[in-house]
Amino acid sequence: MPLLEVEGLVKHFVRRRPLRSTVVVHAVNDISFTVDEGESFGLVGESGSGKTTAARCILRLTTPTAGEIRFDGEPIRSMSRQQLRRLRRTVQPVFQDPYASLNPRLPVGESVAEPLVVHRIGTAASRQARVEELLDQVGLDRSHLRRRPDELSGGQRQRIALARALALGPRLVVLDEPVSALDASVGAQIVNLLMRLQRDLGLALLFITHDLRLVRHMTTRVAVMRAGRIVETAATQAVFAAPRHPYTRTLLAAADLASRRGQVDPGENRPDDGDTPLREVAVGHWARV
Ligand SMILES: Nc1ncnc2c1ncn2[C@@H]1O[C@H](COP(=O)(O)OP(=O)(O)OP(=O)(O)O)[C@@H](O)[C@H]1O
Ligand SMILES: [Mg+2]
Repeated sequence: MPLLEVEGLVKHFVRRRPLRSTVVVHAVNDISFTVDEGESFGLVGESGSGKTTAARCILRLTTPTAGEIRFDGEPIRSMSRQQLRRLRRTVQPVFQDPYASLNPRLPVGESVAEPLVVHRIGTAASRQARVEELLDQVGLDRSHLRRRPDELSGGQRQRIALARALALGPRLVVLDEPVSALDASVGAQIVNLLMRLQRDLGLALLFITHDLRLVRHMTTRVAVMRAGRIVETAATQAVFAAPRHPYTRTLLAAADLASRRGQVDPGENRPDDGDTPLREVAVGHWARV
């Protein structure tokens, strides 16, 4: 059974404009995918394609318009309060901006310990030991614990955000553009750290990015989103070796990653896939073609 199942997820935003007609933004428009235990799954697509909105639904930071999200086969909607509390430990976010999860006024050690305090785990002493262990895991030494977020570099801040996300022993970490704000070399170190943690801790990752190189490096399966829909999904290797959807090919070409077979034919580019269903074009490889 997959760890995470997203089925027919829809999220619309209604924008009311004074003295004008109301617009409905179809941010996520009926997407389905699964993430297995210990797997690294990529969600890729251009700006505005609905990646963050999908992540926010999965993290329960916003309520879906329709569709179902299940963990261990259990729909979130029908979970008891106790199950939801447990779920909060199971699924953790890491955002592009570490300030989103770090209190600027607190020493970062306290931010890392906070989830343990909130969930009433351990004693002050055992929490301290756990925080130090987490700091080791993200490759920072203890001297960083007493610093405030603005006294750390961007890469160090993201390591602290990661330590905080790991504090409760999650099974799934949802990473929304976790290295986009960092210099390439610092980002690469964080990416390597993530891959090591995924392997050592058996974490599942939902890795959201617009960077195809990262997707190729980090994920085993990928879904390509465009305008709120998944236009192609398969093993990452298959998508890079033989992209089937024109939009995927365009993305690969733009990133200079197109294989010969996947070269762009501009004539293929259609503006809308609304009516074309996902079809299995090869085993486990689905595309709206
Ligand atoms: N709270 C909101 N209210 C209204 N519209 C929203 C809201 N949040 C997102 N949208 C719209 O939904 C669409 C998808 O946005 P989303 O942030 O999910 O895209 P994204 O793929 O994460 O883009 P990016 O790569 O720039 O982060 C966009 O058109 C966006 O303007
Ligand atoms: Mg986003």
